[in-house]
Amino acid sequence: MGGMKLMLDPGRRSSEVEFFEESLRRKVVGQDRAVRQLARIYQVFRAGISAPGHPLANLLLLGPTGSGKTRLVEAAAEVLFGEERAVLKIDCAEFQHSHEISKLIGSPPGYLGHRETHPLITQEALDQYHTDTLKVSLILFDEIEKASDALWQLLLGILDKATLTLGDNQRVDLSRSMIFMTSNLGSQEMANLVEGSLGFVSGVERDNTDLDQKIYKTASEAARRKFSPEFMNRIDRVIVFRSLQRDHLESILEIEIERIQERIMKSTAGKQFVFQCTPAARDFLLQEGTDAKYGARHLKRALERHLVFPISNLLSTDQIRLGDLITVDVEPGNSKPVFFREERGALLRPGTVFNPARALSAASTGTAARSLVPVHSAAD
Ligand SMILES: Nc1ncnc2c1ncn2[C@@H]1O[C@H](COP(=O)(O)OP(=O)(O)OP(=O)(O)O)[C@@H](O)[C@H]1O
Ligand SMILES: [Mg+2]
Repeated sequence: MGGMKLMLDPGRRSSEVEFFEESLRRKVVGQDRAVRQLARIYQVFRAGISAPGHPLANLLLLGPTGSGKTRLVEAAAEVLFGEERAVLKIDCAEFQHSHEISKLIGSPPGYLGHRETHPLITQEALDQYHTDTLKVSLILFDEIEKASDALWQLLLGILDKATLTLGDNQRVDLSRSMIFMTSNLGSQEMANLVEGSLGFVSGVERDNTDLDQKIYKTASEAARRKFSPEFMNRIDRVIVFRSLQRDHLESILEIEIERIQERIMKSTAGKQFVFQCTPAARDFLLQEGTDAKYGARHLKRALERHLVFPISNLLSTDQIRLGDLITVDVEPGNSKPVFFREERGALLRPGTVFNPARALSAASTGTAARSLVPVHSAAD
């Protein structure tokens, strides 16, 4: 023996996990701790040394409403599988009565309605998004504080043994699942804390660690009061989401505008077009969408109301057509955006098929024509 010792670097991570974390951080704003935790769990899974007979992780997500708890799980699905719906989502509020548990696991053979009940949690449902190289499932139990006793029992079993027995005695293996549970517990108290912090509304930069610590304390105390020690002991990690500040909302606005553009580009109506918002329009949307209590939920509502609804009117009245370039602006003193069309079909190339990617880049580099024509949404 007697060879040279080489110091190893356990801080170095695989490029795949770096990519996972980076992509997630770009989609989920201001929740770096949550993102980092998830990346760690993913790294353990990718290294193949997750604990056997246990879900990959049992995570309890707490924090103010509209702070990105559900979004984190959807974003992870997007990064891993290219689809935000690649999550088995169980809305616990739908199973508040113990007999409704059969909707989840099916009823035993011989029971009335046995053939009609298609259990929600099955091996196929769990595995449906697996690929050759990635066999991991994401499960989200939303609003667990609303779960019935029967659902609690079921959940305790899953969290502990990573197996579930269906009504017809088939076994479901959840050992390749990351289990996320969200709760609004303490959300009223948290909202009061957030509302009481003036930093949010005024948009003044300030240190918010104090507020976040209070939120963390409120959330974890509420969880310990409400949930049994049995349950809390099975949780690998409690992740408390931060309250979102104005600069977070600014980033979320950009992300959401991009997502609306993606919806337009993926639409099947043959009317793909590009829209761009002026700085005045962005300010307006942010102003309309800022609400301390409802976090980014309020921003999304503002975007639906001031962008999606008018745009759908413009589309269905043919004021916007394939390849158009639309500018969204807000004139001083106005309470809603105005929409302008540059030259009809500015982003179409004669003799070619409409290419969304090329249209987007033409719009962003300003190579499209520059003569603005106002279009009026029927919502006027
Ligand atoms: N941190 C964030 N980063 C990016 N987008 C966010 C963030 N928080 C919220 N959003 C946006 O707001 C929407 C609502 O947020 P989300 O559903 O994640 O809230 P939540 O924390 O689960 O709230 P609730 O407790 O009410 O369920 C998301 O779909 C997303 O578009
Ligand atoms: Mg949610």
